[in-house]
Amino acid sequence: MIKANGKTFLLQGKNYSYAMHVLESGFLQHLYYGGKITETDLDYLIEIGDTNAPHIDMNMDMAFDRMLSEYGFYARGDYREATAVFERKDGASMSRLRYQSYRVEKGAPNVKGMPHVRQGDETLVITLKDDFSDISVDLYYTVCDNSDVLVRSSVIRNTGRESIMLKKAFSFRAQLPNGNYRMMRLAGTWGQERIPEIAPIAHGITRLQSIQGCTSHNTNCFMGILKEGCTEDSGECLGIQLIYSGSFALTAEWCKNGPLTLQGGICDTGFSWELNGGEEFVTPQVLLTYSGEGIGGMSRSIHDFLRERVINPAYVYKRRPIVVNNWEATYFDFNEEKLFPIIDEAGKLGIDTFVLDDGWFGKRDSDWSGLGDWFVNEKKLKGGLKTIIDRCKKNGLKFGLWFEPEMVNEDSDLFRTHPDWAIHKDGVEPCRSRQQLVLDFTRKDVVDNIFGVVSKVLKENEISYVKWDMNRNITEVYSAQLPAHRQGEFMHRYILGVYDLAERLTSAFPNVFFEGCAGGGGRFDAGMLYYFSQIWTSDDTDGFERTKIEWGTSVCYPLSAMSCHVSVCPNHQTQRITPFETRGNVASLGAFGYELDLSKMTEEEKALTKAQIESYKRTSELILKGDLYRLMNPLEKNYFCVMVVSKDKSEAYVVGERILGIPCDYNQYLYLCGLDENALYKIEELNITASGKALQNAGLLLPKLSDFGSWAWHLKKV
Ligand code: GLA
Repeated sequence: MIKANGKTFLLQGKNYSYAMHVLESGFLQHLYYGGKITETDLDYLIEIGDTNAPHIDMNMDMAFDRMLSEYGFYARGDYREATAVFERKDGASMSRLRYQSYRVEKGAPNVKGMPHVRQGDETLVITLKDDFSDISVDLYYTVCDNSDVLVRSSVIRNTGRESIMLKKAFSFRAQLPNGNYRMMRLAGTWGQERIPEIAPIAHGITRLQSIQGCTSHNTNCFMGILKEGCTEDSGECLGIQLIYSGSFALTAEWCKNGPLTLQGGICDTGFSWELNGGEEFVTPQVLLTYSGEGIGGMSRSIHDFLRERVINPAYVYKRRPIVVNNWEATYFDFNEEKLFPIIDEAGKLGIDTFVLDDGWFGKRDSDWSGLGDWFVNEKKLKGGLKTIIDRCKKNGLKFGLWFEPEMVNEDSDLFRTHPDWAIHKDGVEPCRSRQQLVLDFTRKDVVDNIFGVVSKVLKENEISYVKWDMNRNITEVYSAQLPAHRQGEFMHRYILGVYDLAERLTSAFPNVFFEGCAGGGGRFDAGMLYYFSQIWTSDDTDGFERTKIEWGTSVCYPLSAMSCHVSVCPNHQTQRITPFETRGNVASLGAFGYELDLSKMTEEEKALTKAQIESYKRTSELILKGDLYRLMNPLEKNYFCVMVVSKDKSEAYVVGERILGIPCDYNQYLYLCGLDENALYKIEELNITASGKALQNAGLLLPKLSDFGSWAWHLKKV
């Protein structure tokens, strides 16, 4: 619900309110963001702002730092980080924006060329105008009545004739009053993506960012702000999450006695954008999620929102194919003789799709060659893709294929023909991460060419699944096609090129299911999820390490977005040995599959695989649509446990793991969550029937298991 009258603005979602006011002086002051309040008139809070505002005219411009404001300006008395910087022809860039007008529109804005929220109820657009330049900024607020997610973005318009250089163009500013807050971030590295970390916010600026050209393994484009006392299950918190996949920044700035200023969007390091007269610049959208039910409540709101309004509606609630992927089974060293037994076994076990990973194309026998040559390597696959696909069909399987469309090896026909298509700067030796270079996706001719060659493969073969990988960061940020003063546009233009290709391929092949990947989970974000309904979560499939990664990833992404496979032991990343059953249980918490040579499994493992597949078919609806409750955090405890409850609370699925066996560790209880207190539930595996109230309050005794032992329980209302 939006209430607006040109002076006061009140936004209300399911459980939150957000209020703003235009001061006499024209500044847009933030009044309140938190749990839902019934008052529509918060004028009694305005006094603080009004006493500040006259100071400005008295030249006591320090006062701006204390003002809760909706948009920051530069070099004009607000010494916090500017939300955007507009540099004019004469080099001046001071700005001060005041309210000009507003409008309320139905639905969500239709953003072109970038991933965005597909539906919303109403959108408030407030226009601010700069005192010193021809810049106007439209602030967008999209509200959904049944959701706690507020969608923010801004559009910067040059209403004059002369071009203006944007030196920074964040998407939003949000404010919280002075207080003690902690920040949750999802940090990591390759193989350990999105491990949650919570720390107090200190004075100054805390900045989460990627300058790598993708959202990165290191820092996800998510920031959680926890109010004092907020835990997994209770208290207030705010999630800030970008629908963006390129270099980004999210900042939290706290000045003494002042409010907490939250901002972010496209990373400003190295960024600039020439905005000619009459042009506009659209910033990526940001999801602000309010929760009064702890971090868990925030996650559940985000999961619902991404599923209902961001991820492709054609696939989001469809049971995902159970795949077997050959990467860890064969790496580059395969031929039909090695692949057929895997496919044949997959057919016997009830797997849906065989995915042929890296190595099927060009001269791709190692990292050093072939990328860019998207035609089949007939030395390896003598009968081409057709014989593999036929073998799949014979076994009742569908076929999936790996691509890395954004990349090229120097040893490839593509590079030999178009060396200038790789990102490079003449005279600068390129970084050869994983022996490969990145194609210049700021160029339309490059994107068009890749669209053509990938489309050809998809058209000529019966392919139902594509794994789109991206295995390195961007360096030598430069395009020979852009003039000197537009080089700062490179990183954003690159990701717009990726979005363009993703949009064209997914539209041209609506029956092909796309999975994202970036050297594991290096580009796991809501932007990619708009195009690809699931993403390979991490190259680390170890039965214990994955529990931490799934825990952290689930903070702001639904389980159905996380692609999770059972792999071989000793694990290729950690050398650890965990029970096959545990690897299956941990993988069952996402889009499920296998990543090993099925033909080399023992009979016992084959029997377990069959049982896992059967079980997954039963729980897949829960994984796609259910409410997630995180119960035992493996980063804090010797256990991992999460559960998913169906929306009607008739069913639940509980998966847990005891990390290490330790002595005298008996009488440990597990308290379930999210059940119907008054209903009776039967836990099949334990042969226990108890009320939701008992299972939540008295709990269950944890099973006594040795190292990495695990459980998976199905609960049904009786
Ligand atoms: C990345 C992916 C893997 C696999 C390899 C192939 O590392 O994360 O799953 O596809 O590339 O080169």
